[in-house]
Amino acid sequence: MTSYEKDYQRSLEDPEAFWAKAAEGISWNKTWDRVLNADNPPFYRWYEGAEMNTCFNCLDRHVEDGRGDQNALIYDSPMTGQVKSYSYRELTDIVARFAGALAGQGIKRGDRVLIYMPMVPEAAVAMLACARIGAIHSVVFGGFAPKELATRIDDAKPVAIIAASCGLEPGRTIAYKPLIDGAIDMSAHKPKSVIILQRPECEAEMTPGRDHDWRELEAAAAPVPCTPVLATDPLYILYTSGTTGVPKGVVRDNGGHAVALRWSMKHVYNINPGEVFWAASDVGWVVGHSYIVYAPLLHGCTTIMFEGKPVGTPDAGTFWRVIQDHKVKALFTAPTAFRAIRQQDPEGEFIAKYDFSDFDTLFLAGERADPDTIIWAQDQLKVPVIDHWWQTETGWAIGANCMGYGMKPVKLGSPTLPVPGYDIRIINEEDGKTEMKRGEIGVIAVKLPLPPGSLPTLWQNDEGFFKSYMADIPGYYKTGDAGYIDEDGYLFIMARTDDIINVAGHRLSTGGMEEVLASHRDVAECAVIGIQDKLKGQIPMGFVVLNAGVNRPAGEIEKELVALVREKIGPVAAFKIALIVKRLPKTRSGKILRGVMRKIADGEAYNAPATIDDPAILTEITEVLAAAGYPAK
Ligand code: COA
Ligand code: AMP
Repeated sequence: MTSYEKDYQRSLEDPEAFWAKAAEGISWNKTWDRVLNADNPPFYRWYEGAEMNTCFNCLDRHVEDGRGDQNALIYDSPMTGQVKSYSYRELTDIVARFAGALAGQGIKRGDRVLIYMPMVPEAAVAMLACARIGAIHSVVFGGFAPKELATRIDDAKPVAIIAASCGLEPGRTIAYKPLIDGAIDMSAHKPKSVIILQRPECEAEMTPGRDHDWRELEAAAAPVPCTPVLATDPLYILYTSGTTGVPKGVVRDNGGHAVALRWSMKHVYNINPGEVFWAASDVGWVVGHSYIVYAPLLHGCTTIMFEGKPVGTPDAGTFWRVIQDHKVKALFTAPTAFRAIRQQDPEGEFIAKYDFSDFDTLFLAGERADPDTIIWAQDQLKVPVIDHWWQTETGWAIGANCMGYGMKPVKLGSPTLPVPGYDIRIINEEDGKTEMKRGEIGVIAVKLPLPPGSLPTLWQNDEGFFKSYMADIPGYYKTGDAGYIDEDGYLFIMARTDDIINVAGHRLSTGGMEEVLASHRDVAECAVIGIQDKLKGQIPMGFVVLNAGVNRPAGEIEKELVALVREKIGPVAAFKIALIVKRLPKTRSGKILRGVMRKIADGEAYNAPATIDDPAILTEITEVLAAAGYPAK
């Protein structure tokens, strides 16, 4: 047996011993009473009774251990032309002082703080400062609209919001303050204070009494030490798309998260303390939480905060410059970033201009890594390209080629093997319990308990947690993905089993978009599907049936629908195609045939189900799609 196989088996046979050993990597104020409390399945608690502080483990302990002068974080912003480094000592001091400022605002252990920040170092400072005082942060991605922010405010009920005055997208500056004011106007819950980091590109107007200037608060504050919290206390809530428009508040606890993430740095990514790790994502997504902020710092690495895009800031060579300038050992990004680079630099001319001597591995996740992209990246970069599979819910990889154990052969289209701790099974969708044979597609589930770091529940919604993940296959966590395991035990992740689509590595709910379209006064019914896109993997496409008697020009209504989704969900939805149709294809029981519509739009062969109400509707849909240029050439 290889060391991977031994560890994998150990992690399933005796999870408590396995994760007690991994927990030695973390500094505890008090060790646990029990490694795992499994008394109340499916609610499992790791390291029950233990006390620690995540910020201490990310910062102070490394200063104590002699890493004070090492870079903890490098901010590289082609958007503003800045590059700035923070040593562990500097970052600890800044975070301790800002934590003092938060405490000065009356924010205390257990309080929620919503963070709405672009990719600036202060985003990490805000997260770590919350962790330092035991407050629970909830970061919202900058591409979400006020309504989405308001939903999160009402669910998390934050005492404060920390935001920057603006975010920068190529060619436009997005003033954040009006979005926040709009969200607070809409929400029933009103946060007591709003802390604004003024950026010179667009300064925010402040609301007296409620709003505070970050720098002023910081200047007046004294640094505070870390507050020990229970390992089982929440560190953060991260909202992610669920099967309706209402996002799910994924809870991450402190202890299990710290253990799993630190362990993953060596075992999954083969990174050692002192090395440079770059996750080119955004702090608003789980990848940003786990691998821009927490894991690299827990492991004593240098992390990169990159404010830019893979292309256009200023060109398709920007990733290679960052790798060269900061001696990056491993880059983690979404395949879509590589598709964007390849589109602009198919021959890799930019790649040839940079020095890759420190670069070791490229990790891809967030969406299916298409073989074409992997092969191109391998050929161009001449390093292993490792696909790995994970979800907001787990917070770290479920399936990967765990590089710390030695690389396994890559099979294109597969994220390789289950990561230790994850007992992955392929379950028959029909009966929800029997296991599929090797090579047969089914629902991907993980036998409970999930390893440390995975969500213990949804924020104040145990019932939602149970219904969403645990009810359908008793004793298992339902991932929402379908796929199979081949004869060598390799995983293949094929599709979602729900209404989630993956647009440029961003997880979105088509159900959420349908709710928005349905709210338009002229819309009688609608359906949103995810169609294939060469750059973004998938993009949403909406079909609407208008109310009887509406006779305004179709183009006008379609534009309004596109604008409405942008206004209600945000630009990140990338909703640009709305098509008006006479009728939607349905089964006789009224179920909309979204799968068939998707196949027509993608130009795939399809079988109309025997239960279809009226097959002529499929011809109508095909004609509307053809007139709009789909299937795309
Ligand atoms: N704040 C405000 N708006 C944002 C935003 C933010 N933080 N992030 C994206 N947007 C906007 C974009 O400007 C775009 O607006 P537009 O419709 O006016 O053009 C819209 O949201 C859609 O964004 P996106 O789907 O990301 O498309 P893009 O054309 O801006 O960029 C890629 C395409 C592929 C370059 C980009 O998505 C990318 O780098 N993705 C890979 C990395 C990644 O983020 N992965 C996520 C998880 S690992
Ligand atoms: P998110 O919660 O945003 O990380 O999205 C998680 C979903 O993205 C998963 O359930 C998958 O559908 C998809 N996903 C993530 N990584 C991969 C991968 N490596 N291969 C295939 N799908 C992936």
